Amino acid sequence: MIEIDAVSAGYGGGLVLRDVSLTIPEGETTCIVGPNGAGKSTMLKVICDDLTPSAGEVRVAGVRVTGRTPAGAIDCGVVMIPQSNALFPEMTVRENVLLGAHAVKGSARVHAARLAELEALFPVVGERARTHAGLLSGGQRRMVEFARALMSRPRVVLLDEPSIGLDPKSLELLSASIRTMAEAGTTVVLVEQNVRFGLAAATTGVIMEGGTVFATGPAADLLADPEMRAVFIGGHAVRAAS
Ligand SMILES: Nc1ncnc2c1ncn2[C@@H]1O[C@H](COP(=O)(O)OP(=O)(O)OP(=O)(O)O)[C@@H](O)[C@H]1O
Ligand SMILES: [Mg+2]
Repeated sequence: MIEIDAVSAGYGGGLVLRDVSLTIPEGETTCIVGPNGAGKSTMLKVICDDLTPSAGEVRVAGVRVTGRTPAGAIDCGVVMIPQSNALFPEMTVRENVLLGAHAVKGSARVHAARLAELEALFPVVGERARTHAGLLSGGQRRMVEFARALMSRPRVVLLDEPSIGLDPKSLELLSASIRTMAEAGTTVVLVEQNVRFGLAAATTGVIMEGGTVFATGPAADLLADPEMRAVFIGGHAVRAAS
């Protein structure tokens, strides 16, 4: 599990997260939602130690992640998949996935075996192995990004707004890919503006507001809660006019 323990963090002296404590269950999918500027992306940056908090710490499976370099966070099994399309469009799908082996110890044979496993999990990786990544649909690109991240067998995968810019068909591929990662035992933490999509893909929901955790609960309960529905209009985190 991920333990966020009394974390305060911000940029250049201004605090964004204020004394946040949160436990994220292992092997499940947790979705963080909340209005723009609530501190969702900042939370992910603290979890992968891209941003060092001014107080508090993050532990993954009891091991302190805070205060390492990003490479150190990877050693703890934490991988962040950034918001922007991070594939190399001129490289093939397979070449992109194998980049994920860069930081992983092991022979070419070990990497090939892992690649075969990932081809079974994400069919597009095998079927379009020689296709330039730039030619894939948005949903297919997400699959390849996930496969690349999973090369190193991370414990935790962090996703910042993976649904952005995806058409409905790609959204389906994305939610299937998130399920695939979770079923493989990976702890997935995603941040979503598309609240309906995010909570539907998750087991646990976390609502952030103003740099604090406003509520947590089973994602299905949050999705069904009339008060939550009133706050999150049209599937997006927009404060209801009152
Ligand atoms: N690199 C940065 N430097 C300075 N301030 C930042 C930086 N990144 C974020 N902030 C500020 O921190 C606050 C929280 O930002 P954060 O990106 O965590 O919010 P968010 O919940 O992810 O919002 P959004 O839904 O818009 O992505 C905002 O006020 C933002 O302007
Ligand atoms: Mg954000």
